[in-house]
Amino acid sequence: MDDSISAAAPLPPWLKWLESCSSTNTWAIEHLAQLDHGTVVFTRHQTQGRGQNGRVWYSPPGVLTLSVVLDRIPATQLSGFSLIAGLAVIYAIEDLAPSLQNQLRLKWTNDVWLNQRKLAGVLCEGVTSNLSNGTKLVVGIGLNHHADFTSLEISTIRNPASLHEVVPIVPNEILILEKLRHYLLQTAGLLQSSQHSSCFSVLLSAVRDRDALLGKQITIELSGEQISGEAIGIDDRGCLRLRLSDGTIRTFMSGHVTFASV
Ligand code: BTN
Repeated sequence: MDDSISAAAPLPPWLKWLESCSSTNTWAIEHLAQLDHGTVVFTRHQTQGRGQNGRVWYSPPGVLTLSVVLDRIPATQLSGFSLIAGLAVIYAIEDLAPSLQNQLRLKWTNDVWLNQRKLAGVLCEGVTSNLSNGTKLVVGIGLNHHADFTSLEISTIRNPASLHEVVPIVPNEILILEKLRHYLLQTAGLLQSSQHSSCFSVLLSAVRDRDALLGKQITIELSGEQISGEAIGIDDRGCLRLRLSDGTIRTFMSGHVTFASV
């Protein structure tokens, strides 16, 4: 079942359309040697999706699940790539649904939010071949397209949003895949040609403009510890800065924001 490709209509050459698979990220990683830069692995039926920090990613019908393969990403550019990928997701959606212009936000480290509700999640996984070729990245995206979450019994996501609730005409799947691919390729090109030491030097201001947590009281869960404070922005490596109640500032490279007052 895993490898069967739906061929009702001619598909673009960059698209691997799977009838079903456990996880598009896992499939892409397993087939990475045969997948070119810019390949998009897509399925409507993902059975064992994976989220950040080892969490399970459950995708009911209507959630787009895809992975985009990016080649030769310099190792220096990997830190915080999830946020950059989230930015690409925002640009793609805004292109297709202009009424959402300036409404989408990045929730560190890997979510796209619409009105404080999760619209999409990103899971970036890198495979380094050798230093000169940089890293092949698999950028997994779960995007709520026309999903109905009302019957969801177990959900770790609070009150997710879906595109169909907020735009009159939901762009079709292939168009969305094409746009996501376009912006991720553009980002990859920028990073490959960048002389800067971090991708955040190039895209930092765009990321900061979209920071959903800035000024909010949040709790970060990291290795079983819960740390609360005020989010005071994203640094030039993509780390989140938190001001604790005693005034000290802590910087986080990873962690899960479990609560944000909005
Ligand atoms: C998160 O919010 O924790 C990240 C979710 C990423 C989910 C996508 S769905 C397509 C790709 N395949 C996976 O198994 N995960 C990512």
